[in-house]
Amino acid sequence: MPILLLALIDLVQSEHSLRRNYPASARFRWLFEWMRPYLRAYIVESDLDGRPFSHDERALVYARAKGDEDAHPFGTELDVYSGAYEWLAHSIAPATNVERDQRVLVGTDQCSRPYAASRLNISAMSFGSLGANAIEALNLGAKLGGFYHDTGEGGLSTYHLKHGGDIVWELGSGYFGCRDENGRFDPGKFRDQAGSEAIRMTEIKLSQGAKPGHGGLLPGAKVTAEIAKARNVPQGADCVSPPGHSAFATPIELLEFAGQMRDLSGGKPVGIKLCIGYPHEFLAIVKAMLETGILLDYIVIDGAKGGTGAAPTELSDRVGMPLREGLIIARNALVGTGLKDKVRLAASGKVASGAAIAMNAALGADWCNAARAFMFSLGCVQSMRCHTGTCPTGIATQSPARQRALVVPEKARRVARYHRATVDALHDMVVAAGLQSCGEFRPSHLRQRINVAEMRAMDEIYSFLAPGVLLSEPESTSMAAWWHQASAATFRARS
Ligand SMILES: Cc1cc2nc3c(=O)[nH]c(=O)nc-3n(C[C@H](O)[C@H](O)[C@H](O)COP(=O)(O)O)c2cc1C
Ligand code: SF4
Repeated sequence: MPILLLALIDLVQSEHSLRRNYPASARFRWLFEWMRPYLRAYIVESDLDGRPFSHDERALVYARAKGDEDAHPFGTELDVYSGAYEWLAHSIAPATNVERDQRVLVGTDQCSRPYAASRLNISAMSFGSLGANAIEALNLGAKLGGFYHDTGEGGLSTYHLKHGGDIVWELGSGYFGCRDENGRFDPGKFRDQAGSEAIRMTEIKLSQGAKPGHGGLLPGAKVTAEIAKARNVPQGADCVSPPGHSAFATPIELLEFAGQMRDLSGGKPVGIKLCIGYPHEFLAIVKAMLETGILLDYIVIDGAKGGTGAAPTELSDRVGMPLREGLIIARNALVGTGLKDKVRLAASGKVASGAAIAMNAALGADWCNAARAFMFSLGCVQSMRCHTGTCPTGIATQSPARQRALVVPEKARRVARYHRATVDALHDMVVAAGLQSCGEFRPSHLRQRINVAEMRAMDEIYSFLAPGVLLSEPESTSMAAWWHQASAATFRARS
């Protein structure tokens, strides 16, 4: 009887052609379409399939988070003769007495409260895209494991501060948490919060790999009282992040703004995060550092493969530089101008293992941030429903009923365990390479298969600039054209 009723409804409705021609039975198509991700993940996919993260990549995080055995039996399943294969060199003489928990000191001499960062930290994810329990578990995990937790651009909430884990407070173009009634940066509000003990560094988000050049909109319906408080916006009204910043319009103004944030925070390191678009714009920021003498304490390069709660498909798939190229450009710009020893460089974009950290270190990254890997450690099953508010694991949702699934102390232990095991794996790779520190990885350590019979080290594929060469003889470098286009006074290219 109910099926007959459904068939009748389908026959007379005017919206769906399939249902008019195949009453009731056409609904199976929608059912299977809806079940497709689950059927694929649990039945069809092989261990190495699965996007964005393969089954094996996820399984490694789950095992480490639970404290289970994470060793891989019987040898690699990767095709070491495929064109995508890359690996790190090891030494016949592995290193001994290598320190396990190596940290990176962040803070130029313009900063009075430097911060010793872990080699792996939690990348920016806002309260709003994640629920309160997820934020709490990440922060408590960061506290237990001694690493930092980036707030994302959605402001500081009580959940970020409740457990005392190290915080990086990120400001996007909405200046959430420190904005005036017109949505512009409010120095007083920023100072009042940036002094908090838990906040160790502050960060200006210029762009992110998953949606470069795109602002954001949190619909009014999702702006709960708590989110409104954290963001300093009216409850129930649409909360808009414009595509660009209003606090600065030129590279020099960006640095002046960064310097102001450093002063207002009481001398804590200040950094920027971006996915590189036009290389000359990045060089313009470097030129502005040289011209003004105001240094950023750190720069995070986000790659095109980075994650997000929600983004337009075109921007996710086709805009923004992949991490490898972006990181090399940033490394060359800093090394080539003699700034690499002062300004720290970090990388994010599909980092989930010690190998990924070591490979990014070979290209110049002092540390890495991970977002989705830490979501896996919270129990994320990659169902990719983050934008719907119906996350089955209680992570990317504001629904109290769904968040019940996420028990803060248990998941915090998992976050800390995953971090510990991954940093330990990084240590093993440093030892195998015969090095004393992750900071000693160089482009020559990272090898890439070119074809079935050839391999190359990174410095045989890409150009890596020598220290200071952009200042002494820029025209001799692979960055000559971009260097010429770059101006500290504008983000536009000079002709
Ligand atoms: C749910 C979610 C929310 C995010 N929110 C922000 C944000 O507020 N600010 C930001 O700079 N990046 C944000 N990101 C991007 C991440 O910080 C990171 O740059 C990117 O996901 C790459 O890291 P991954 O590959 O480890 O996920 C978000 C990512 C995810 C998955
Ligand atoms: S389980 Fe699904 S909806 Fe929840 S955070 Fe993971 S991918 Fe997003």
